[in-house]
Amino acid sequence: MWEDPLSSFAALYESPDRAAKTLLFAESKKELRRLMRQRRDIIVSLREPFVPTPMTGVRKMLRLAGVKPGETVYDLGCGDGRIPIMAAEEFGARGIGVELRRDLFEEARGRVAEMHLEGKVKILRRDFMKVSLRKASVVALYLRSKTLAELIPKFERELPRGARVVTYWYQIPGWEPSKKTQIIGREIHRYGREKYIDRRFEVEICLYRG
Ligand SMILES: C[S@@+](CC[C@H](N)C(=O)[O-])C[C@H]1O[C@@H](n2cnc3c(N)ncnc32)[C@H](O)[C@@H]1O
Repeated sequence: MWEDPLSSFAALYESPDRAAKTLLFAESKKELRRLMRQRRDIIVSLREPFVPTPMTGVRKMLRLAGVKPGETVYDLGCGDGRIPIMAAEEFGARGIGVELRRDLFEEARGRVAEMHLEGKVKILRRDFMKVSLRKASVVALYLRSKTLAELIPKFERELPRGARVVTYWYQIPGWEPSKKTQIIGREIHRYGREKYIDRRFEVEICLYRG
């Protein structure tokens, strides 16, 4: 479907002027789409550059989260796919990796195929803000605190009871971790869904709504 390029660019840059300037260089709709994809990948990597969690850190995150066979582990911004892959290989879980950058998405998907894990690991090329977490048992994250803060309303809306969130290095602002560990001087934090939602309040809210 053909999107209005000006508003798409404006949304990306939060600046219609820059969007318009970029348009000048596109000679066709196809070329414009290609530019838009490229720009989006550049913007993503400026906001949240790809820095992989060391493999020992990944293992510690999944252990701290208490991942059990059959559970579903999400990695929002999965890079080369190492977290969902290890969740499946070593912990018997189902892994879902979400990655917006095309090159990393392709790399992660390639790794999954090489390891014949297609039945257990899914890599999605999506903006993680638009991916539902309603089926997540565990969400593993290596993202900056600013991005973690933006995810809080989504966690509160979508994470099921019993779900755990683990973060490498950065903390979720305003949330108190229930457990912590360390790896090569970096902290890993675990947060439990039951820690910040009290079902009694939910019932009260429903009653007030009538
Ligand atoms: C610090 S890296 C972490 C990679 C991987 N999770 C790991 O721990 O090795 C953050 C990743 O998030 C991706 N990313 C940033 N914003 C995103 C978004 N809105 N949707 C999907 N992926 C995103 C980046 O492209 C980058 O690969």
